[in-house]
Amino acid sequence: MKLAVIEGDGVGKEVIPAAIEVFDAFGLDVEKVPLELGYGRWERTGAAITDEDIDTLKKCDCVLFGAVTTPPDPNYKSVLLTIRKELDMYANVRPIRPLPSVKGIYDRTDFNYIIVRENTEGLYSGIEEIGEDVSTTKRVITRKGSKRIADYASKLAGSRTNKLTIVHKSNVMKSDKLFLDVCRQSATDAEVNHSDELVDSFAYNLIRNPWNYDVIVTTNLFGDILSDMSGALVGGLGLLPSANIGEKYAFFEPVHGSAPDIAGRNIANPLAAVLSLKMLLEWHGDMAEAAILEEAIDTSLNLGVCTPDLGGKSSTSEVGEFLANHIKTRVK
Ligand code: NAD
Ligand code: IPM
Ligand code: MN
Repeated sequence: MKLAVIEGDGVGKEVIPAAIEVFDAFGLDVEKVPLELGYGRWERTGAAITDEDIDTLKKCDCVLFGAVTTPPDPNYKSVLLTIRKELDMYANVRPIRPLPSVKGIYDRTDFNYIIVRENTEGLYSGIEEIGEDVSTTKRVITRKGSKRIADYASKLAGSRTNKLTIVHKSNVMKSDKLFLDVCRQSATDAEVNHSDELVDSFAYNLIRNPWNYDVIVTTNLFGDILSDMSGALVGGLGLLPSANIGEKYAFFEPVHGSAPDIAGRNIANPLAAVLSLKMLLEWHGDMAEAAILEEAIDTSLNLGVCTPDLGGKSSTSEVGEFLANHIKTRVK
């Protein structure tokens, strides 16, 4: 495996080294390609990401990414959005499930759903006109873009409980009627039970009854917002992993950002990054390793080896070290 490793900015520089320590404990045959991208590099060199970086990424099999700071500067080219588009990673897959001994909003832990977020278009089209008095962002929904995410979500639903919820706002934005129609057709063709909800009432229903959902498919910005909201259900943003998947490439990253409010203190929760690593192992077919990693995480949480956001006293690096040591006792 040729793995690009991008720490990025802020807590990315803390959670990725912890995740890599965990990864190294498996002793897998991996060639790591470190890349320095993000705001820090932009400040230093004037470029957050270059065409050469994209070429390097294209030569790797997959990417483990921390987080980047994205300033609202019109001259700044977003690293993340550039990579997602250039590598055409159209599916942003965000599993939401409670972990042992971690308190979310509810005592009930019998929910486990996946947000499948369209990752290349919608309000992230990048087509903008910025004026003194009027600024516009074009929301692009295409049949092709909708079909591939709908097919991905339908297939995923078929491998789980065969239940798909399509989330949209077609009452106001007619562009979402196309998204909805394509998703319905895809689910029908795949013989997946499906229903649809308007995003506003869906947000209310999801936070009240998360156990009612399994696979959720939605457009780019809605998926972004609903995934952070879901963090509250499971005990924090430090616990949510994600995978960006395309035909050729796969890119794994925590849902959270660079968290400048806690960066540099070695207290960021590395589990979102470590769970992203678990998604990488599963994607690569290393199922035994993924199971051992899950067991290591459960053990750490049950023993209270966790960062302050979960009520613990351990540092980022201590959690990484604990997981790595546990894995070493399991791997021959
Ligand atoms: P954020 O996700 O960085 O932080 C939100 C809150 O969650 C903060 O209180 C933070 O301390 C907490 N948090 C985040 N990760 C945590 C962790 N691992 N452990 C414990 N607590 C954690 O969101 P923000 O503050 O709105 O954004 C900060 C910067 O990150 C912005 O520049 C934004 O553009 C960028 N961002 C990047 C990504 C990414 O790289 N994938 C994602 C979201 C935001
Ligand atoms: C995420 C982030 C990104 C997004 C930003 C940093 C561009 O919030 O991965 O969820 O909006 O997709
Ligand atoms: Mn986000």
